[in-house]
Amino acid sequence: MRKKIVAGNWKMNMNLEEGLLFAKSVNQYFMEKPSGKAEVILCTPFIHLSGISEILNKGKMTFGAQNCASEPSGAYTGEVSAMMIKSTGAEYVIIGHSERRSFYHEDDRLLNKKTILALNSGLKVIFCCGEVKGEREEGKHFIVVKRQLEEGLFTLPTEEMEKVVIAYEPVWAIGTGLTATPDQAQEMHKYIRSLVREKYGKECAEILTILYGGSCKPSNAQEIFSKPDVDGGLIGGASLKKEDFVAIVEAI
Ligand code: PGA
Repeated sequence: MRKKIVAGNWKMNMNLEEGLLFAKSVNQYFMEKPSGKAEVILCTPFIHLSGISEILNKGKMTFGAQNCASEPSGAYTGEVSAMMIKSTGAEYVIIGHSERRSFYHEDDRLLNKKTILALNSGLKVIFCCGEVKGEREEGKHFIVVKRQLEEGLFTLPTEEMEKVVIAYEPVWAIGTGLTATPDQAQEMHKYIRSLVREKYGKECAEILTILYGGSCKPSNAQEIFSKPDVDGGLIGGASLKKEDFVAIVEAI
């Protein structure tokens, strides 16, 4: 059985106090109303990680970071390594989010390096891929996603690939209110699974969790999650509002 996941991506929001209060409140909610089969992950800024580790009731919820350094340690002022993230008790790290790709010019080669480091540090990776608006309009979305996966991920051996979750996030849908239709999401998720099958075989493809991200909200989550190759969501804006976030988890 494939794991269902709803992961919140807080991005650069919430100070320490706000974040810990929010996490406490979400944790409390799922203590009282368990999330069923879905794994709920909070991906927070670095500053929240160790505090959140004390708050979350492991087994009900997990947490992770949104990025990590591309080097293991040393003179890299301002960076936070995968090992440091792991030492907080975090289980996951998001790699290759489109905001990292575009604002910080992270390319496929660098993302591959980060992915390998994160896995070697004992973290699981939520690897993001997705096309920008122009690429979809030109019909290049499949080619773009294929390249991102081949160069960023498909150098991994099978046993490492099993610690990866893929998130398909069409860039034109992130934070814009435009959502991919459930059929567009399903079409791309099915394609991604077929690429994984070609490279890693049927078993690996079948257990791979593929999340959809991009303006996912309570009103559209259920329809998107009902598609056979959509195994949950990576939630940005709606993960900052408790009612919306828990409603999305419940939609699964
Ligand atoms: P959004 O962001 O839900 O605000 O569109 C999703 C993401 O960037 O992961």
